[in-house]
Amino acid sequence: MKIDITWLGHAAFLIRSPQGTFLMDPFLSDNPLAPCGAEDLSPDVILLTHGHADHLGDTVPIAARTGALVIANYEITTWLERQGVTNTHGMNIGGRHEFAFGSVKLTLAHHGSQLPDGTYGGHPAGIVLKLGTITLYHAGDTAFFSDLALLADEQPDLAILPIGDNFTMGPEDAVRAAGLIQPRHVMPCHYNSWPIIAQDPQAWAAAVRARTRAAPVVLEPGQTFCLNSLS
Ligand code: NI
Ligand code: MN
Repeated sequence: MKIDITWLGHAAFLIRSPQGTFLMDPFLSDNPLAPCGAEDLSPDVILLTHGHADHLGDTVPIAARTGALVIANYEITTWLERQGVTNTHGMNIGGRHEFAFGSVKLTLAHHGSQLPDGTYGGHPAGIVLKLGTITLYHAGDTAFFSDLALLADEQPDLAILPIGDNFTMGPEDAVRAAGLIQPRHVMPCHYNSWPIIAQDPQAWAAAVRARTRAAPVVLEPGQTFCLNSLS
């Protein structure tokens, strides 16, 4: 089995798999690195780590146009329903749910979460997405914390980690996180969107290679990584 993962800049990813098309944190219209517009994407499912505008992004118009199922914490799905998004599935931290396409678990993230109009967005999350024999972990926005080691139990084929610093963990903490999570592959995100989160992803990748067993994958916005499962 294989899936294609395209980085759309910042924390936004498009995942194409036999189980369907998934869009994570679809921040496109105001994303200086976005390689496409919201109107170019027609996912089956949208997954949100938290309510900040640089993650919620274009969720409302994409969901309105496509009818995509939106999965997020309960505070965010309730808010989305008030914006007219009807196809939602609310969850909360620690919960896993089996969908027809695979499973989703919301994991702990240490960060804030506020929706664009100031509404409380509940607790921010990381997302474990299992599609067939492949497991993905998107950390969302988070600080480094020692319980990231618990993600190793999920045996992620790919972990997506923020490296931008200032708002999230920076490059050094993201190397430490990759060491705890022990994914097969690790991909950086949430950097170079603006000067305040400028980072050198190749220097980070070299540190990952030197200090962990994970294989770093650095994409340019719009580039795709083909992830093959071991089984
Ligand atoms: Ni955030
Ligand atoms: Mn963010």
